[in-house]
This record gives sequence, structure tokens and C-alpha cells, in this order.
Amino acid sequence: MTMMKTSLALAAALLPLLAGAQDAQIESKVAALMRRMTVAEKVGQLHQISGSLNTGPASGEDARTQADIRSGKVGSMLNVKGVADTCAMQALALQSRLHIPLLFGQDVIHGYHTVFPVPLGESASWDMEAIEQSARIAAREASAAGIHWTFAPMVDIARDPRWGRVMEGAGEDAFLGSAIARARVHGFQGKRLGATDAVMATAKHFAAYGAAIAGRDYNAVDMSQQQLFEVYLPPFKAALDAGAATFMNSFNTLNGVPATGNSFLQRDVLKGRWNFKGFVVSDWGSVREMVAHGYAADLADASVKAINAGSDMDMESYAHLNHLEQSIKSGKVKMKTLDDAVRRILYKKFELGLFDDPYRFADAAREKAVLADPSHRAVALDVAQKSLVLLKNQGGTLPLSRDAQRIAVIGPLADAQRDLEGGWVVEGDRARVVSILEGIRDHAGKAQVSYAQACGAGCTGTEGFAEAVATAAMADVVVLAVGETWDLSGEAKSRTDITLPGHQEQLFAALKATGKPVVVVMLAGRPLVFNTIADQADAIVYAWFPGSEGGNAVANVLFGDYNPSGKLPITFPRSVGQIPLSYAQPSTGRPVTDEKDVVYKSGYIDSVNSPRYAFGHGLSYTTFKYSGLTISSAEMSPSQKVTLSFDLANTGKAEGTEIVQLYLRDMVASVARPMKELKGFQKIHLRPGEQRRVSFTIDRELLSFFNSQLVWGAEAGDFKLMVGGASDDIRLEGALKLLR
Ligand code: BGC
Repeated sequence: MTMMKTSLALAAALLPLLAGAQDAQIESKVAALMRRMTVAEKVGQLHQISGSLNTGPASGEDARTQADIRSGKVGSMLNVKGVADTCAMQALALQSRLHIPLLFGQDVIHGYHTVFPVPLGESASWDMEAIEQSARIAAREASAAGIHWTFAPMVDIARDPRWGRVMEGAGEDAFLGSAIARARVHGFQGKRLGATDAVMATAKHFAAYGAAIAGRDYNAVDMSQQQLFEVYLPPFKAALDAGAATFMNSFNTLNGVPATGNSFLQRDVLKGRWNFKGFVVSDWGSVREMVAHGYAADLADASVKAINAGSDMDMESYAHLNHLEQSIKSGKVKMKTLDDAVRRILYKKFELGLFDDPYRFADAAREKAVLADPSHRAVALDVAQKSLVLLKNQGGTLPLSRDAQRIAVIGPLADAQRDLEGGWVVEGDRARVVSILEGIRDHAGKAQVSYAQACGAGCTGTEGFAEAVATAAMADVVVLAVGETWDLSGEAKSRTDITLPGHQEQLFAALKATGKPVVVVMLAGRPLVFNTIADQADAIVYAWFPGSEGGNAVANVLFGDYNPSGKLPITFPRSVGQIPLSYAQPSTGRPVTDEKDVVYKSGYIDSVNSPRYAFGHGLSYTTFKYSGLTISSAEMSPSQKVTLSFDLANTGKAEGTEIVQLYLRDMVASVARPMKELKGFQKIHLRPGEQRRVSFTIDRELLSFFNSQLVWGAEAGDFKLMVGGASDDIRLEGALKLLR
């Protein structure tokens, strides 16, 4: 036994050494290859082009593209997927003088064949294992289809639901967002890069893309350094620490400088301070867009500015391909700069094992087997259930009983399939997407299910309302499925009006007028504004775009076979006028402490400040009691840790899971701190009547922030500690003093 322990310890000690030796080996292979490369061949490695989807092997690429690949002018492709097509392209690359294999990248954002909930939806699970597992399966499927690299996770913090891309991220909070960034990177990359079931991850979009002015996609960002470092950068750092192989820069300017040409972001922070070893890919055409920004004179200048600022690979701008060789000759770009970019990219190709076998990710039999693996569907169901948020449940309307009930399922999205998948679907298993209606029918048992669509996608007409009302009138309960269609969220899908499209609120009102209880299931990629429904619906389940198994997940929640536990990862405003709105409100000198008294206070004369649904909100079919808060010491020196503990009890009748949240406020600091900051969370599962003691460890790191000199650290003084089930549902409070 002791000997075994010793050899295990020895192996553990040797691992980093072995890894170091492997790094050195790859470095020397890269160096040897680079000695043989011409400048043109080096430039080729920085050029990424898009293939055309949905064509037979190599048939969709034009002659020019094929010739470029054959002559070593292309380092990577996106939008080529499937074993047959990737093999065909790889075969062309291997005809080039040095036979350098291509990297195949793809936006595998929330699943490849098995579609998981959109990332914002998954984030509502606050379940790091589930999120990691979802990314793991996406990687398994994508890598079996010849893909080496996903352009995910998107780790942009987003506090403006007008921005359609809130759907692709983890919501508004840096702490939760960082945990999710780590989980996703671990999921995509698995235990190690180079395994054929792992893909390289991309932390995108570096940086601050989510803070575009007024939620207009691609717009400018003007932000303080403190806000940048405290709120927007931490998920990127977390992704990097988790081993993210690549970063993608972004379309926006940050304080006037396009992210793609931003050497502060890419050279000073990412490759400097953070010592990032992987490579940076531009966003689609973002090198070229620096001309439109008025930051580069022309494409040649844009190429110079991008590479000098640390942007390595050019996605679809053709800037480096057409101009970089000349800029090397003229001295505008140093050979050393080009070499560094090429070295980073080649390193990854070696690490993935592509020089040993360029086709190692391409195995038709594996592709077929993996894409059909039924266990993937089971995980998709699990993740979808965990991501559903019960926003409201008046008088215990839910769960529905199956006994002699007549259930009317109504609404434009009730039998939708495509809409359940959301945006960024690569090779979705559309035929097998379970609609909400199908899910309810399959799970209804003895209950009778009737259906009326009421109106089509977008709900532009009201012709079907009478039939829907008649159907409702015959039933005991109505399940109304409304929301956004899939194509209203995502890239370039900013909206000024985030209420329900078309006549959907009117449909709700007509159904409600029947006097039957109305349960609303809402699909969307962003927080929507739906005040009438919020006020009058009997129950509301926010389902996001829940993926292939969405209908089953919704049905399980409606019938109580699964007790919902999701919590909002982003604030739901009452109106667009409140945006941007986050639970982490900065402090003011005139806070509103009583919503009825806003005179000369920091509020509105026509609205309260509070959101419709707060960050962290989400109900359950059971109830939880928080009690007995203790803090192991009221004071703490900077090197100490204290433990905050409390009892959590399930006081209801159903088994359930509570996501307990720890918030703090630094009461007095050299920089005024937010009113609340999330600093911990745990998912606790309890049987009825069960009670458990829950603990959080608090150390100096948790109390730290960036001061006005951008130095990270904690300042001595008082902290308020808060524990609860949502940012607006604090159940216990305590105090802690940090000593000098
Ligand atoms: C998006 C990226 C995406 C890329 C490639 C861009 O328009 O901003 O997120 O990875 O396209 O599809």
C-alpha cells in the first residue's frame, strides 16, 4: 500500500515534468518546421476562410479557394463539417509543399447534433456539472464529425436584454459567469487537447462586446478600466485559467480602439499580464472592419494594426493573405511578430496531433455511432429540466394533476420544433425535437389534451383566437406557449421592444377572460417584458430555447415529475426604460429605500426601480427555510479565513433543490462598491423535512476588488454578508470586519 502510494505520488510529481518535456518537444518541432517555411507560407497559416455548407465533399469550394488551400495559403477553415467534407479539404491541404494540415473551426455553441438549451438557458441551471457535461457531449459529437475547434464559450457579460446575443452567454454576473466559463472550457477540451473527443475552446469576444451602446449589436463600448477589470474580464481570465486554447477578439471599439487592433487588450493584458500561450482569432471580418471604424486607412493598414496588436489569425478579411508579405518587406510588421503568431497556431496543430495524422478526427464509423448515441438525449433532457425557471406559481397552480383533467394546450409556439432549438444550430436533429405539445401529450397520462395554435409564428393575426378561446373554455386548465421565435435572438438581433411579438399578450388576455387558470410557458433567448402576463398568469415557466428535449423537459416540470430549480442568471426588467439593470447596482448618494418615495432620489417618477424578476429568482414546488446563521469569527486578519454557515430546511411537501446564494457588500472602500455582489452559490437537494448545514468559506480573495490604481486587493473594514434564494430574497445577514 505504502509503495503504491509512493509510486502514485511520484507519478503526480512527474506529470508536470512530462508535460513540460512534451511542450519542449512541440516547440522544437514547430521551430524546425518554421525554418523551412517561406514568408508566404507563414502568412497562409494566419488565413482562415469559410467553406460553403451543405455541399458534397469539396464541391462547394470554388476553384480559387481550392488552389489557395493546395498552395499552402490557408491555415484554417470554418463552416466545413462532417467527416466527408473535412477529409476532402484536408486532402487538398496535404498537397501543399509542406503538407501542413488545416484546422477546422465551427460555432458549436450549445450542441452539435443533440441540441442543448441555449447558453443563457443552461446558465439558469447554476449547475457546473451539467454545463460541463453539455459541452463535453457537444465536443464528442463535433469532434466525431471532423471538427477540431469550437468558437465557444461566449463569455461576454451582458446586462442589456435588447442585445440579441445575451442568449449566447452566461448572463450579467462576473462570478457566476466565471464559474460557467470554466465549466464550458473543461467540457469542450476534456482531460487534454489531443484526445479525439476533445475540441479546442475559444473564449470570445475579447473584450466587452456585451456592453455595446444601447444594446445595438457591433456598437461601440465606452467603459471605465475598473468596470472592465471587475465585471467584463473575469470570465475571460477564468476561461484562460481553465486552459482555453484560443481567444476570439470582437467587433466593438473599446474606448475608441477596435478590439481587433487593441494592443492593450491583446498584448498587455492577454499575452502579457495573463501570459496566454494560445492564439487569438479575429472575429468574422473584424480586421477589415477597422477601416469602417476609421482606425485603419485600408486593408493593408488593418492587417498591420491587427497583427501588431496581437490578433493572430484573420477570419475572412483576406487582410493578411493579400497584404502581410508586403508589410514584412516594408518593415511595418517585424518578422518576429509574424513568427510569434505562426508559432502559436502551429503549436496547436501539433498539440492536436494533426501532424501525426491529419485525419485523426475523421472516422465515418465513429461519426455515425457518436451522433446516434442515445445517452446524449438523456443528458439534454437533464440539462433542459435544470434550466427551466418557475417565475410564478399562484396558489399552487403547478404542478398539474393528471386526474381527470382536461388540458388545453394553446399558442403559436406550442407545437413548434425549430423554435425550441434556438440559434446557432449546426447539425441539429430537427426531426427528433420534442415540441411542448408532444411532451405534454406523452406525459399526460389519464388527462385529456386538446390543442389550438391560435396564431402562427409571430402571432400577427387574431383569426384563430375564437377557436382557441373555445378550446380553453372546454378545459380545466390552459397551457399557453408564447414567446420569441428562434430567429429573434442571437447575433444582429437587437430589439428596442422586447415585449411579446404580435398579439400574444392579447391572446393571453382572451384566454384569461375564460376564467380558467392559465399557465404560461415562455420561450425566448433573452429576458422579455410581459407585464400583463406577469400580473395575471396563474403560473409562468421560463423555458428559454430548451433544445432537442425541450418538450419533455417542460412536460416533466408541468406535471411535477421534475421539481424546477432554475434561477435567473440575468435581471428581467419591467420596461426597456430601466435598462441597463443589474442586481449589482452601484451605490448612490440618494438611494431609493422606499419605492413610494422617490422625490429627489435616484429613481423614476413613472416606475419603480426594482426589476420584474430579480437576478437569482426562481421558485420551486417546495419551500426552503434559512436559519441559524453563524460566522466563525466576527473579525478576520488578511491571512485568515472565516466560515459562514446556516441551516437550510425543506419545509414543503416535495423533494427539491435550492440554489443558495451568498452576496456581500463592502461598506466603506476607496472606491464606492456595488450594493451587492454575488460571491458564492451552492445547489442543495433536500427531501421534505430534511435539513442541512450549508457553509461558505470567506477569504481575502473573496473580499477583493480593483482599486482606482487597478490594484487587486481587499481593504480593511466592514462587510455585510447576505444569504438567500435570490438577489432580492435575502433571508439571513451577518457582518464581518477585515483587519489590517
Ligand atoms: C460571430 C462569432 C462567430 C463567427 C464565426 C461572427 O459573426 O460574432 O461569434 O464565431 O461569426 O461564425
